[in-house]
Amino acid sequence: MAKIIQEPSRTFGEYLLIPNLTTKDCIPENVDLSTPIVRYKKGEKPELSLNIPLVSAVMQSVSDNNMAVALAKNGGVSFIFGSQTIEEQAEMVRKVKKYKAGFVISDSNLTPENTLEDVLALKQKTGHSTMAITEDGTPDGKLAGIVTSRDYRITRDSLDKKIKDFMTKGEDLVVGQEGITLKEANDIIWQHKLNSLPIVDKDFNLVYMVFRKDYSDDKEHPLSLLDKNKSYIVGAGINSRDYAERVPQLVEAGADILCIDSSEGYSEWQKDTIAWIKNYDKNIKVGAGNVVDREGFRYLADAGADFVKIGIGGGSICITREQKGIGRGQASSVLEVAAARDEYFEETGIYVPICSDGGIVHDYHVTLALAMGADFLMLGRYFARFDESPTAKVKLGSGYVKEYWGEGSNRARNWARYDLGSSKKELQFEEGVDSYVPYAGTLDDGLGITLHKVKSTMCNCGCKNIAQMHAEARLCLVSSTSINEGSAHDVILKNQ
Ligand code: IMP
Repeated sequence: MAKIIQEPSRTFGEYLLIPNLTTKDCIPENVDLSTPIVRYKKGEKPELSLNIPLVSAVMQSVSDNNMAVALAKNGGVSFIFGSQTIEEQAEMVRKVKKYKAGFVISDSNLTPENTLEDVLALKQKTGHSTMAITEDGTPDGKLAGIVTSRDYRITRDSLDKKIKDFMTKGEDLVVGQEGITLKEANDIIWQHKLNSLPIVDKDFNLVYMVFRKDYSDDKEHPLSLLDKNKSYIVGAGINSRDYAERVPQLVEAGADILCIDSSEGYSEWQKDTIAWIKNYDKNIKVGAGNVVDREGFRYLADAGADFVKIGIGGGSICITREQKGIGRGQASSVLEVAAARDEYFEETGIYVPICSDGGIVHDYHVTLALAMGADFLMLGRYFARFDESPTAKVKLGSGYVKEYWGEGSNRARNWARYDLGSSKKELQFEEGVDSYVPYAGTLDDGLGITLHKVKSTMCNCGCKNIAQMHAEARLCLVSSTSINEGSAHDVILKNQ
């Protein structure tokens, strides 16, 4: 007969934290949310840490280069989705590594031979009215000039007028040379009363644009996660099929950390993938998963995973449990894997960080997951709601929503994520849905509030860092009746 685990599997909503003594120095401003993301030996420092314990999901609808920059500015990491061609994914990684706060890789480019009609169409598409004109129309071609909305009048000019006849020509432009600092670029902008400054290399090829409005960016993000060259740290998702082609190109593009993206990670496919990567270059960092128990964790830790990801069936867009009857409540999974991580550390002296992936509904679930032993969390729905996610913002009723779809939905068709060695495409079935999530504004604002809540609760628990939460937090199970007690009750709410 099958072995039955008698304890029901539980999720975050079934637990609450109990306060510990809050000392006077235990205030949100003093809470440090940094946390390791790769394995390290006892007494040594991890080679890579996060400044906040959040990473964004390996999903088309969540993690592109735009999200990666926005999250790294705030101290976290995005894992750029792998359900695209290797070249496209590597290009996204490259864009993040090339990004420098305030230095924008131009996404609005035309050639001098294009027309005013092309200018208006591009403006409509990107929303940007300043366009760099290059000889070949590429973002790094020879700079021919610049067009802004002050260079033409829609009411007067004919739509087929050539750009070369109304742009500000290259020889008349004030430019900055590659290598100048943001401060120097802004000094030029102020001195010449410009709105933008093209940065060129010694052959007058366009490298970046600097816009007047971006100046304060650097100062507003003290937790930025940067490599030694001051580029943002970025991750990338891989699968257990085409890693021999994908991994070298991602690493070459500058990916700092990889993650095998799979719905179920306790498999020989993952072990082989990790072995191949470490044999190719032992310095490449790669996380694996997902697992939900001690056995799965130990298998991947022994296989050499740099971190292990937890969670099956708990994602907001996930229908794996319905489709396949496999999974486990996220809280039970995190608690068991955290115990396994500590046991592994005791035995081997190697700390393998664990990541709770999926199922975060309320901000306080982040704090619960940390208290339960997670070193960091991966979130999809949460990040999909912000301006910086790659998906469309749609008006629905009186408000806005953003699109959000699962990697196992027919929309993403990321079947490699569900790899069990079968190549019979006609037998593929969905494990995810296509949906909307409420729009939540900018990442900076939303994340700021979430993290402040996390820090506040940690202070209630008397904890100033995540390791202390692991050691000292106290949790209790709640009954269904006491869950009712937790929200406003027995009152008539105003404004409803
Ligand atoms: P969320 O934060 O609750 O939205 O969950 C995000 C997580 O769901 C991801 O990090 C993946 O682990 C998982 N996931 C993504 N796409 C799918 C899918 O189509 N089916 C099942 N799980 C998915």
